[in-house]
Amino acid sequence: MKMTHLKQLLAISGFIFAADLVHSSALAQQKNDLKYNKMIQDSFRAEGITGLNRIDQDATQKFCSDPQFANSKQGEAMREKIQKINVDSIQQPSDGKYIGDWKNGEKIAQSGRGATWSDKADTVIGGGCYNCHQIDLKEISYGNIGPSLSGHGKLRGYSKEVVTYTWNRINNSKAYNACSNMPRFAHFKLLNEQQIQDVMALLLDHESPVNK
Ligand code: HEC
Repeated sequence: MKMTHLKQLLAISGFIFAADLVHSSALAQQKNDLKYNKMIQDSFRAEGITGLNRIDQDATQKFCSDPQFANSKQGEAMREKIQKINVDSIQQPSDGKYIGDWKNGEKIAQSGRGATWSDKADTVIGGGCYNCHQIDLKEISYGNIGPSLSGHGKLRGYSKEVVTYTWNRINNSKAYNACSNMPRFAHFKLLNEQQIQDVMALLLDHESPVNK
């Protein structure tokens, strides 16, 4: 599109739509930039279980790769769209069970194993939750990119709303915050339904040390 045409369009269409347009044309340009694509392709190779499909970005990743726009006022409408896509992809538990075994949940939260090129296809992937969250206070090694989850149930209560919110967060954190740093555990099949039920129990079972 010629710049003069773009300017005319911007004048007619109003600010938010215009910003959207500039943004998507920037993305289109990036997508069509052969040199750029080749540089990315050449920088990685498929190895073991890791395929080159890992460098294909979905709409959420593309949007968040431009943080200046994603966090701007103009990005707000698109942020909401991205969150809606992620909300709509969440599945509630097929057996209606939200709470599994908190002891297994603790192991999953501790484990950062999996999805590395040297893993086997059937290596069980961990949640790595402690990498970013304080959870059981007895564990003194934890990261702080995310908020402390210690006392999650005790502090927030065990209502249906809290249970569903926590389920949705773990399944797909971008449903609430388009560019959340928290991995989309169900979306990328990092954790299966049973594992998510177990991690849920760590946060929401009355018997879990998190709520003592
Ligand atoms: C790479 C860092 C990272 C990892 C790994 C991670 N989280 Fe998070 N998590 C965050 C961040 C950051 C937030 C804050 C909200 C946001 O920015 O979206 C968050 C928010 C949450 C919340 C909402 C807390 C609240 O009070 O609203 C829950 C629940 C949660 N995480 C659970 C988990 C569980 C369970 C795991 C492991 C299966 C996990 N997280 C792994 C970064 C992470």
